[in-house]
Amino acid sequence: MDYRIIELGELTGVDDPRRWAVEAHNRLWHDELERQHGNDDLAWPLSVELANSLPQPERRMYLWVALPAHATEDPEAVLGAAKLHLPQLDNLQFSEGTVVVRPEARRRGIGTALGQAMLDRCRADGRRVLASWAGTIPAVPASHPDALEVGHGRGWIDGSHPAARFALGLGLRPEQVELHSVLPLPVDLETLQRLHDDAVAYADDYDLVTWEDSCPEQHVDGFAELAVAMSTDIPQAELDLEPQVWDAARIRRQEARRAAAGVRSLTSAARHLPTGRLVGYTTLLQNAGRPAAAHQEDTLVLREHRGHRLGMLLKVWNLRRAQQVWPSVERVHTWNAEENNPMLSINFAIGFAVESIESAWQARLEG
Ligand SMILES: CC(C)(COP(=O)(O)OP(=O)(O)OC[C@H]1O[C@@H](n2cnc3c(N)ncnc32)[C@H](O)[C@@H]1OP(=O)(O)O)[C@@H](O)C(=O)NCCC(=O)NCCS
Repeated sequence: MDYRIIELGELTGVDDPRRWAVEAHNRLWHDELERQHGNDDLAWPLSVELANSLPQPERRMYLWVALPAHATEDPEAVLGAAKLHLPQLDNLQFSEGTVVVRPEARRRGIGTALGQAMLDRCRADGRRVLASWAGTIPAVPASHPDALEVGHGRGWIDGSHPAARFALGLGLRPEQVELHSVLPLPVDLETLQRLHDDAVAYADDYDLVTWEDSCPEQHVDGFAELAVAMSTDIPQAELDLEPQVWDAARIRRQEARRAAAGVRSLTSAARHLPTGRLVGYTTLLQNAGRPAAAHQEDTLVLREHRGHRLGMLLKVWNLRRAQQVWPSVERVHTWNAEENNPMLSINFAIGFAVESIESAWQARLEG
């Protein structure tokens, strides 16, 4: 074997000498995502990845890097890397990992060796599932000679694509298709006003609360309840996920991590006036290191409050605010399960257009 694999856990601080491995992982994905999309909007800035490499109660992290057999520990020399997250507060059956190999080093078994290291770690930790997301495998018609069925009848993707062959070889199966859509900003204010006015007519019993970065103290418990619902009330196909555990302390930890990493957030929430309860929310994120891009995070309306156009109202409201406070943003990225028609129709009405598809894969490790 002409390469060796090194395993690391979390860093002890952003100056930990092992940060070279995090830098290597960050560069590999930066270059890969830039090749795939023509810009680096979707690549985490290094500051974010370093902050996310510190210990946190929510999850354990493992990182593997493959180096040429005799190379020193230098980010430039790294041939490939894998990263694994093991949730600790909930979803103890689940794990989520990625693998990337430098183009010149592909087809030498490095990806498989990194993938096996992840699977071994998952088994040793008693996990039943390893999930991963692939961003490049195109959809194909069912009649395509290499059509690979996603889940049970959820669509077909190209099973001859390198990433598909690779994942199948490790025992993963595709379970869900996600559409990645982009909205060019600014959206003209008349359009936003029209969408707002159409929606607000259905939402007499609600008003909106908006905050930047830190949830107002009086709403934080209600916001934590919405975060739990977000983990159960959205389409998840056959992904083996369980409800997440959220409380005010976890919300505050997430806010502190974002602040430390230079990630800003903008949240609008819908309040049900008769009860005072928060019943829906939407969040946009913006990385200081990527001034042209924003990311749509969660959007949720509790089931019993659906049908009042709150989804549209929340999104339009939050976008209007984002255009005011983040004037450098030119594109908003969002991901939606292909079966999530209510969310997709809102996004298309606002002006999002599908740019690529992602597939969610899962290996079942029992037995
Ligand atoms: C997918 C990826 C990690 C594979 O890395 P790799 O080091 O080339 O993988 P391996 O050499 O271990 O290949 C394992 C198997 O995958 C399949 N495979 C990999 N590349 C392939 C290609 N270009 N064409 C066809 N099959 C391919 C083959 O079955 C191969 O086995 P074989 O070489 O014995 O035929 C690499 O292509 C990559 O970094 N892609 C971009 C990132 C990505 O999509 N990651 C996966 C989702 S997280």
